[in-house]
Amino acid sequence: MAPTSIKSVLISESVDPRCRAILEENGILVTEKQNMKKEELIAEIGLYDGLVVRSATKVTADIISAAHNLKIIGRAGTGVDNVDVNAATHKGIIVMNTPSGNTISAAELTCALLMSLSRNVPQAVMSMKEGNWDRKKFMGSELYGKVLGIVGLGRIGKEVATRMQAFGMKTVGYDPITPLEVSASWGVEQMSLEQLWPLCDYITVHTPLMPSTVGLLNDNTFAKCKKGVKVVNCARGGIIDEAALLRALESGQCGGAGLDVFNEEPPKNRSLVDHPNVISCPHLGASTKEAQARCGEDIAQQIVDMVKGKNLVGAVSPPRCLQVELVAGGCSYRVSGSVQGGVPVLLELNGSVFRQPIALCGNLLFFRASGGPQLLSSMAGVLAANGVEIQSFSAPTAHPEDPWHCVGVSSLLPDLSVLKPSVKDAAQLQI
Ligand SMILES: NC(=O)c1ccc[n+]([C@@H]2O[C@H](COP(=O)([O-])OP(=O)(O)OC[C@H]3O[C@@H](n4cnc5c(N)ncnc54)[C@H](O)[C@@H]3O)[C@@H](O)[C@H]2O)c1
Repeated sequence: MAPTSIKSVLISESVDPRCRAILEENGILVTEKQNMKKEELIAEIGLYDGLVVRSATKVTADIISAAHNLKIIGRAGTGVDNVDVNAATHKGIIVMNTPSGNTISAAELTCALLMSLSRNVPQAVMSMKEGNWDRKKFMGSELYGKVLGIVGLGRIGKEVATRMQAFGMKTVGYDPITPLEVSASWGVEQMSLEQLWPLCDYITVHTPLMPSTVGLLNDNTFAKCKKGVKVVNCARGGIIDEAALLRALESGQCGGAGLDVFNEEPPKNRSLVDHPNVISCPHLGASTKEAQARCGEDIAQQIVDMVKGKNLVGAVSPPRCLQVELVAGGCSYRVSGSVQGGVPVLLELNGSVFRQPIALCGNLLFFRASGGPQLLSSMAGVLAANGVEIQSFSAPTAHPEDPWHCVGVSSLLPDLSVLKPSVKDAAQLQI
């Protein structure tokens, strides 16, 4: 990746001090200014090459249009809902987040809500503070032996699963992208949502908010759940339809809800917050010292890596795509790629869309094979026997028959025919 010149960065919110320190240690001039009004930001943003925000700064299209020198918007955290990513991409500005800095904190809060729902801990605390000693009202139930449905088996979904298994919960889940064998390796049996709804005693959602996940739990799906199912949303407001949740709580179809996120934050409509079977938090998933420190450090390090021309990590800007047809060795290949932060990346090869853009650098081995659970280990074995180490692995999202996979390798194979028993086709590149 070509180095990018970033000399000055504005940090417009309270971000962990390590962020400033790392940027300054690498020769970047840092200005910290909090609570800037929109007009102030518009007037000043032209002075900076980089902007670091958390969730309070709304980086709107008019701010981006005034940002004549801006090359990077770094979000110390996960969601980039407060940044107009399309406007930034259109202007050639990279938007980056720190996708894994919050994972453990958000997973732990989810577990705390699941445990609180099972034993009414917050309600009992409130009752004690009011001077009561009410042991009957707060009869709970064990988590042991109950079924937890996890919708969205990404970073947080996985951590929730492994933690709740320690309580003896059976974990089932659904994710359109995470392969069945991968989630099975951390103890989650995947199934369709139709199969999942009626099985679960508890359901927790860990997907992004997007058209396909808005109202995943709605009147229709609540009706398919066990009566008294308890639900948790520590992901994004709207994944559980709030009006449907209230109806389900009132009818008893839903036995309780743990909510960290809302359609509108703070919620003006207090019906859910005030419901006796709802326990709620003011979006605290990422609010731990450790998560904030990690996110501050990660975003600074990602900016420094970009300056040094190292890997581009955490870029969320939608790539502008180029599609071409290549003819090599008598075969025709349809490929789509783009350039992300100066790095040429491959997005698709003959209908196989890769889960993560593949940076076109180093030694790359492409092979076409059916993606069974043994594929990676059998490839690793063949490659190791030929002195080659796997450094990265990219699987396709869509699964046409025998899709293309790609591995980054320590060196090229002297002879591709050693792969013959395991793959249908193979090619390698040194870039
Ligand atoms: N409460 C907080 O403060 C807090 C903190 C961190 C993250 N979050 C939110 O938690 C959510 C999960 O974060 P993550 O880091 O695990 O994200 P991730 O990208 O690692 O995982 C999301 C998973 O959802 C899956 N998914 C997409 N569409 C789906 C669908 N229709 N049905 C089922 N699964 C689907 C994806 O395939 C992916 O595996 C995000 O919405 C994120 O914004 C909230």
